[in-house]
Amino acid sequence: MKRAYIGVICFFAVVATALSVYGAPAKRLDAKTGTCRILNTGSLEWESSPWGEGGRTFKQVCKSCHTRDNTEGATFLWEESKTSRGWNMVFTKMRAKCARDGVWERLSDDQLLMVNDYLYRWASDAMDINDSA
Ligand code: HEC
Repeated sequence: MKRAYIGVICFFAVVATALSVYGAPAKRLDAKTGTCRILNTGSLEWESSPWGEGGRTFKQVCKSCHTRDNTEGATFLWEESKTSRGWNMVFTKMRAKCARDGVWERLSDDQLLMVNDYLYRWASDAMDINDSA
């Protein structure tokens, strides 16, 4: 009896894991370069994770200003400040004051793409199976 019970729990744990992986965005179409960035497998899967180039650059560079109570006059920003589409707009239009002021120039084009991938992947609506592409 007990064994069957554990079996049922394991079954649901596996289903839940599968669903959460399925819910995360698998790819991102980058309007600027016109490329499709695969985010659920291969090297970009690593780079768009919190410990990859994208996640680390966001924390080290963007969050050096965009923290709570910063003295740079920057609003608090974190992954879920915007939707996946919203983050894509930020990087495509480059209308943010810091981008216009040249602050982003300390990052390479590749690094910016990876920060975009990271934010797209962990955005406020990214885990919603119905919304993410
Ligand atoms: C040197 C400090 C600094 C750095 C580094 C910086 N920003 Fe900013 N950012 C600002 C300031 C100042 C503003 C203008 C005030 C505001 O709207 O937050 C701004 C504005 C923005 C905005 C518009 C505000 C909003 O809520 O939509 C976004 C988006 C943004 N930054 C994203 C980023 C990203 C992404 C990075 C890293 C690639 C970054 N910033 C790095 C200082 C910085």
